[in-house]
Amino acid sequence: MKKILVLISGRGSNLAALLEAVDKNEIAGRIVHVISNRADAGGLNFARERGIPTTIIPSKDFNDREAFDMALGDAIAKEQPDLIVLAGFMRILGEKINARFAGKIINIHPALLPSYPGLHTHRRALDDGVKWHGCTVHFVTLKVDIGPIIGQAVVPVLPDDDEGALAARVLESEHRLLVDCVRWFCEDRLTVRDNKVILHDEVGSACAQQHPQG
Ligand code: GAR
Repeated sequence: MKKILVLISGRGSNLAALLEAVDKNEIAGRIVHVISNRADAGGLNFARERGIPTTIIPSKDFNDREAFDMALGDAIAKEQPDLIVLAGFMRILGEKINARFAGKIINIHPALLPSYPGLHTHRRALDDGVKWHGCTVHFVTLKVDIGPIIGQAVVPVLPDDDEGALAARVLESEHRLLVDCVRWFCEDRLTVRDNKVILHDEVGSACAQQHPQG
């Protein structure tokens, strides 16, 4: 069983999706700790309800990023997790913390990377008139929102969509994609070669992502 640590900053619906999948034994891992950089992150309650330890490291109390990263890294290291999931964690991690947990940190981003890195992804997609949008789960590297892509889920952009409607459709796909990607990681089915992630099937052959969502 892999030890999973989840970092959040807010609502925590992706954390909730992971917790439900773990409850249903869909993932060969357990969530051992949830850390937030905000005391008011609603998602902390999903962990508390299950008796999972939570830690708050308020980023606003730190003058510089390195000091915050050091405190966060020390809190993470205590659990010795196999996997660290950034599930709506709205802080950029610096060089040292990335190096400390290299290959173990994954992030969910609400857009089809490399399109729309950064913030306000749904508004920007609507402004551009794209017909398809979605989300990406990737390994975290030093460059923000760039890193080997584990999986992507695609949703249509509908004529009457506003930012809220599109965000809700993408969020639903995020929950499924994140569970799939964490499951693959926990089953040791991911390898990274030349900056690309290879997904292996049960007998070890490379395979396509099995459930692209529409
Ligand atoms: C999600 O849409 C996630 O993709 C996004 O924040 C939201 C968190 O929702 N993450 C980022 O924008 C990271 N750059 P949640 O708290 O309900 O999981």
